[in-house]
Amino acid sequence: MKAMIVCVSVSHGNTRKVADVMGQTLQAPVVTPEEADVAQLLACDLVGFGSGIFSMSFHPRLRQFVEALPEGESRTAFAFATSGFPEAPFRPFTRPFVQLLERKNFEVAATFSCRARDTWLPFKPVGGIRKGRPDAADLEAARTFAAGLPARIGSRPRRT
Ligand SMILES: Cc1cc2nc3c(=O)[nH]c(=O)nc-3n(C[C@H](O)[C@H](O)[C@H](O)COP(=O)(O)O)c2cc1C
Repeated sequence: MKAMIVCVSVSHGNTRKVADVMGQTLQAPVVTPEEADVAQLLACDLVGFGSGIFSMSFHPRLRQFVEALPEGESRTAFAFATSGFPEAPFRPFTRPFVQLLERKNFEVAATFSCRARDTWLPFKPVGGIRKGRPDAADLEAARTFAAGLPARIGSRPRRT
């Protein structure tokens, strides 16, 4: 299975740590949007998209990258994020990003998120929150998530 992971990790490298574990598990390169070869990406069986959460959304560089992808035949993706807080029911961050991927004809097989060090302005005076995260347990959860993806994709009926 050919896979690729596109990751924006600008704050503390939190999401990159998660992406690297997923990349090792899937034997997939981890690239930034600027490094991604779109032709190679479109030829993959599975593409992962991940970033930190900023103002309750995936990073704009990742969203803009997806928005610029050509529409085409059905593709399979997964999305992942790191954030200071779990998503709020009144302002989810996963669903709008999944919808963006769906508009580009990606079927989103699964999503993953975990807590991570957050030094957003209000938390700066105390040195941030969620120090030490993602930790070993978060990275193990990311590895387990990635290891389960091929089976999920194999068992899912393809949209035509
Ligand atoms: C300017 C700024 C805005 C943020 N906004 C949110 C937010 O809305 N919700 C949240 O849970 N975390 C928020 N965070 C925390 C980041 O999502 C978290 O630190 C993430 O792990 C950063 O990922 P990265 O190190 O891969 O860039 C924010 C952090 C910064 C610096």
